[in-house]
Amino acid sequence: MKALVYHGAGQRAWESAPDPSLIEPTDAIVRIDASTICGTDLHILKGHVPAVKPGTILGHEAVGTVIEIGAGVTTIAVGDRVLVSCITSCGRCRFCREAKYGLCSGGGGWIFGHLIDGLQAEFARVPFADTSLYKVPETLSDEQVLFVADILPTAYEVGVLKGRVEPGDTVAIVGAGPIGLAAILTAKLHTPGQIIAIDLADSRLEKALEFGADVTINNGNEDALASVMALTGGLGADVAIEAVGVADTFELCTQLIRPGGRVANVGVHGACVALHLETLWIRDVTITAALVNANTTAKLLRLIEGGRLDPTAFATHHLPLADTEAAYDLFAAAADTHALKVVLQGVPAGRRDEALVGAGTSTHHHRSTTS
Ligand SMILES: NC(=O)c1ccc[n+]([C@@H]2O[C@H](COP(=O)([O-])OP(=O)(O)OC[C@H]3O[C@@H](n4cnc5c(N)ncnc54)[C@H](O)[C@@H]3O)[C@@H](O)[C@H]2O)c1
Ligand SMILES: [Zn+2]
Ligand SMILES: [Zn+2]
Repeated sequence: MKALVYHGAGQRAWESAPDPSLIEPTDAIVRIDASTICGTDLHILKGHVPAVKPGTILGHEAVGTVIEIGAGVTTIAVGDRVLVSCITSCGRCRFCREAKYGLCSGGGGWIFGHLIDGLQAEFARVPFADTSLYKVPETLSDEQVLFVADILPTAYEVGVLKGRVEPGDTVAIVGAGPIGLAAILTAKLHTPGQIIAIDLADSRLEKALEFGADVTINNGNEDALASVMALTGGLGADVAIEAVGVADTFELCTQLIRPGGRVANVGVHGACVALHLETLWIRDVTITAALVNANTTAKLLRLIEGGRLDPTAFATHHLPLADTEAAYDLFAAAADTHALKVVLQGVPAGRRDEALVGAGTSTHHHRSTTS
């Protein structure tokens, strides 16, 4: 098969790689129908995630079709269309039993394109298939569910739910990239009174309005703290969601919340960040930071199925899976290309049934039919 292989900092190639095969009886093999690229993949390519070893296939977001299952898989069948989440779950460890799948200590958690081969590939091995895959409702397209693999549950769980957004709240979201925009979209599920989006890029702030922000602030040419205070009667926001991952924006979040407010940090920080307890200690604040657990994945799928949530606006670009290298260039140049998410499309829809002919319930590979 072909896949996007990481070869150390700054190096990656779409090239031949061994077909994945079942290793554990709880594994499934999935043919990738749609995949996408995350900001975290760009961090990996800069060498910021040393746990990713050269030779690893990147990618942790996909929709696919199950083509083979291990003997221990009971709830997923060959032919099922599935969402492959960025988080896998062993279902048995202490953390999985508490629905904190991101912390899985039994071999799951964030492993795709990190500790094992990922999903920017024609095929992938999915460990713990029963507890890690989600069947896609028949009425939904790949594109309607693809972003539930990562950005939607991340923004919802780590931003909106950790920040305990309540009806009527003023929510300030700092950073209007895919994560910040997904926070806007999912904050609306809780009917906030006012959503304020803050970013340095006007193009991103325009997107924020399209996604449902009420007010935008460009903190490159406006005093964001003063503006938020003016918008909240001098009190501050009830919730601040940090969706950038730098010290300045985290500090801004801690300054712009009201007494008793909440800061939900989503950004991945690569450098030391100051925590000003000398001013915060008396303000009854709650500050949270976490990795996504994907424990809301099924709920988000139901909301999309019910027409309550539509994430398709994230798909700004479409390319065939074979053009993943070009997609990386496009995504990395988001400031110029205005890319939010690039949808990488696998085998064209018309060829899908053909690819499955003969697959039945057999556990043999039928990949030759797709090549
Ligand atoms: N915690 C998790 O589980 C998790 C999961 C996925 C991503 N993340 C992190 O979330 C963060 C956001 O992800 P993304 O994909 O949206 O990133 P992105 O780079 O696409 O977007 C970041 C946005 O922040 C803006 N920005 C940069 N500096 C700013 C500043 N000083 N003030 C205001 N805005 C500024 C940029 O213009 C951009 O619009 C990243 O740090 C990413 O690594 C965390
Ligand atoms: Zn990601
Ligand atoms: Zn576990």
